[in-house]
Amino acid sequence: MCGIVGYSGPGNSVLPVIEGLSRLEYRGYDSAGICLKNDDELLILKKEGKLENLKAIIESGNYYSHTGIGHTRWATHGKVTSENAHPHGNSDFAVVHNGIIENAPALKAQLMKEGFEFKSETDSEVFLVLVTKFFKQTGDTLKAISLAYKQIHGNSAFVIIEKTSDKLYAVKRSAPLVAGVNPTTREAYVSSDPFALIGFAPDIYFPEDGVICMGESTPTEAKMSFFELDLTPSSRYKASTNLMTMDATSKGPYEHYMLKEIHEQPALIDKLAAYYIKNDGRHILDDLNGLKTDMWHFTACGTAWHAGLVIKNFFEQNNRQRANVEIASEFRYKNPILNKNEIGMFISQSGETADTLACQELCREQGIKTYSIVNVEGSTLFRNSDKNFLIHAGVEIGVASTKAFTLQVLTGYFMSKAMEGQLDNPALFNEVKLLSTRIAELCENAEKLISVAEKIYAQKGFIFTGRGKYFPIALEGALKLKEIAYVHAEGYAAGELKHGPIALIDENIVNIAIVGPELYEKTISNVEEVKARRGVIVVVGPENHPEIESIADIYIPLNFEGLNDLSPLYVNVVLQFIAYYIAKLKGTDIDKPRNLAKSVTVE
Ligand code: AGP
Repeated sequence: MCGIVGYSGPGNSVLPVIEGLSRLEYRGYDSAGICLKNDDELLILKKEGKLENLKAIIESGNYYSHTGIGHTRWATHGKVTSENAHPHGNSDFAVVHNGIIENAPALKAQLMKEGFEFKSETDSEVFLVLVTKFFKQTGDTLKAISLAYKQIHGNSAFVIIEKTSDKLYAVKRSAPLVAGVNPTTREAYVSSDPFALIGFAPDIYFPEDGVICMGESTPTEAKMSFFELDLTPSSRYKASTNLMTMDATSKGPYEHYMLKEIHEQPALIDKLAAYYIKNDGRHILDDLNGLKTDMWHFTACGTAWHAGLVIKNFFEQNNRQRANVEIASEFRYKNPILNKNEIGMFISQSGETADTLACQELCREQGIKTYSIVNVEGSTLFRNSDKNFLIHAGVEIGVASTKAFTLQVLTGYFMSKAMEGQLDNPALFNEVKLLSTRIAELCENAEKLISVAEKIYAQKGFIFTGRGKYFPIALEGALKLKEIAYVHAEGYAAGELKHGPIALIDENIVNIAIVGPELYEKTISNVEEVKARRGVIVVVGPENHPEIESIADIYIPLNFEGLNDLSPLYVNVVLQFIAYYIAKLKGTDIDKPRNLAKSVTVE
């Protein structure tokens, strides 16, 4: 979603702000802008479309300013136009915003009655106008920000600069915000993501909701101060060191980050196994030994929700513990039945997904424990959880989540084994090693799947099917394909096809059927039903099965032997490659597919 970067210091703000915005491009956006504070004005440059468009404007001038803010916008209120792009500003203040002001229409109507004018269709400009109004009344910027913040509803982060000083102000409610300082260079920063601050600000701070951050650079130091809304000093922030590295920003030999991230999986699987079975992660899992809870409430979105569906199988089948997996945006509004001896479990790559965070808050309010399977250490989810199970995937840049899914599921598997007291069983380590070896083989031979993609990419629609533990993989395979190739794809439980979706089948529809060794005959019967209706059949199934050869138009044979519960992860990598190669043939923007954001920080 929207990316924010702000700078104040002795250098030229244009450089770190534009570099920061470039690093946040992967999150998805549709316009970009920057505001540079000069002696006599707040200069705003903004443009719809790619950051390149803004960069071209900046390169054509000789811009220099000690204080600047930048923004990449993912439209929520108002069309994708240069006018609606951020920053929004007037002669006194400029503002960038990530989130939604839910009561913007009412506030805007009231402000217009009072004679204030608006230049854009955005909700964000309401905050600018509120700050301006309260500044006129109080003559104090901090007071004006506090009063404006109290008026707005919804989840948001704002960064504000003013004409009369070089200070950076920021405040948030349930939206990502990080402040940073570089003591050596005397620079102060703010951003929506610590990734933007790597190499710029080694000291970083995560403010809690309703804490106003004020960054400034003096001739002797860079300072970040924190205030409560009553403007007394605040200690409600977490200080940290930015340990992220820039390795992830390189695609290496790969054409896309998605492809690189698929190929990273074997090594990351091995690393995660070592971490949780033998190294630092072991004590975190040991705490789960013998744990029994009345119900696990999993909530997550998209791919992370699919990971929850796979993990549910582990907890139910292996641990005989009840697990309920729900889409976060549904769970939060359904008045869920939550009891004390239950655990809320949240799965999220970014740790910043608004709906997932809201579910966590709900569980905390109801007094139940909250555990998270999360990638980004220091994210809001991470900070608010009673226990975190990090997946150590490194930065995932491709909008289509690949390695995070694999490592989320694997982390859930280790948790299940820890509850059973099985972490020292050598079979576990061997099984995981077998998984990484098989996935490495798939990666080595991935180019074979190009010819599969070539045969099917022009078809009208795709139905992915699977039974049992492969059903969530059918859902995930379909999601991956639709998000990057922009084709209609659905995932179904194989046995459910005849209850409706089979009406769609004709020679224009491809059935990508996952046929595991379990329930083999029943699943093959489902494939036969599709074949009888002239559907194009792709079977991802166990090797050396001549009958699959005779039924399928395309047979992708796999060696399931010894993978047991982990075989869904193996199959899933095949589907990741198929989605990738189909998208490539269609010429889409694979790493930044249209309309999508990497981190969905609005509801
Ligand atoms: C996956 O390919 C998606 N882009 C999306 O479904 C994603 O998994 C979802 O938005 C959840 O994100 P999170 O893991 O960061 O919470």
